[in-house]
Amino acid sequence: MDAQWRAPPSYHWPMTRVFSGIQPSGALHVGNYLGALRQWAVDQHDADCFYCVVDLHGLTTDHEPAELRRRTLETAIGLLASGLDPDVCTIFVQSHVHEHSELAWLLECTATIGELRRMTQFKDKSAGLESVRAGLMTYPVLMAADIVLYDTDRVPVGDDQRQHIELTRDLAVRFNSRYGATFVVPEPSIPTVGARVMDLQHPERKMSKSVDSPLGTVNVLDSPDEIAQKVRKAVTDTSAKMAYDPDAQPGLANLIELLAASTSRTIDDIVATYPNYGSLKADVVEALTEVLRPVKARHEELRGDPSAIAQLLEKGAAKASSVASVTLRRAQQAIGLLPPGVI
Ligand code: TYM
Repeated sequence: MDAQWRAPPSYHWPMTRVFSGIQPSGALHVGNYLGALRQWAVDQHDADCFYCVVDLHGLTTDHEPAELRRRTLETAIGLLASGLDPDVCTIFVQSHVHEHSELAWLLECTATIGELRRMTQFKDKSAGLESVRAGLMTYPVLMAADIVLYDTDRVPVGDDQRQHIELTRDLAVRFNSRYGATFVVPEPSIPTVGARVMDLQHPERKMSKSVDSPLGTVNVLDSPDEIAQKVRKAVTDTSAKMAYDPDAQPGLANLIELLAASTSRTIDDIVATYPNYGSLKADVVEALTEVLRPVKARHEELRGDPSAIAQLLEKGAAKASSVASVTLRRAQQAIGLLPPGVI
């Protein structure tokens, strides 16, 4: 930890504060579930957790307004179906808590264009685009605001968010050293298996909500037949050797990792057990079907009552705002904004 950094008083001691977010950019897939959501459901029982559907982040690339609204609600239902309990954790929509956008501006004035241009996701998503929205570049600053607003200690995410959390830490430390102790500096929490689930058809790239690869993506709501079809057609390698080698045999490594992440088996045990790809694929189908079964069942119950979901999101936003407003005020004061009505 930097010498100049001293943690500001904790407002939530003795409980650890956890924050994480998900974009409403498409159907939830097993990468989201195994890499993040499953951990969120575990964390809610021993930490003070805030989970957010980050709809403002959904504006950084082309979108259809009605579709964004539908997906925001659908993603919130997906979070509940993944086991989040609104009586135990706080679930809300980012745009319902205006402090996110306001703090993002203070952090935009802390970040540099150089460090934002260097973000891998910005480079990937902007590559080949004729015109790039400014929001695509400042995306990780809004993400940093999401996190530090809640005095967050720990951020459970998949591996693809590692660099963004690193930037969040840099911005929090920079702000604190310029303006005095204001933000808690968060730690990422990344699972040891399932942190980077790859596309079944293109195992060199991660499974993604927005990539058009219907056969490569196992969605949380897929039927057992769909799961079986996708896993059976998963691209493997020309070598028939059973080994876990993500560089040389990425397709096989992905299947092994999917099996390890959805059972309690280790990668070594899996490599030693299977004589060929066929029997491995059959067990991956079974394991994924089992791990997703309760999520699908809960989704079936929840989707019939969207007004109940809207109500709990409203309650979640009120609770989130009560925490976020205190942090925002602290940051505004530290950076030198004149409070209204005070001379
Ligand atoms: P998003 O919506 O892409 O993904 C949500 C969560 O799922 C994880 N994930 C994966 N894990 C393993 N394998 C995969 N193929 C895979 N694909 C996605 C992601 O790592 C993430 O944890 N920028 C974030 C949303 C965000 C956020 C935040 C996250 C906005 N503000 C603050 C944490 C804290 C994103 O686009 O996640």
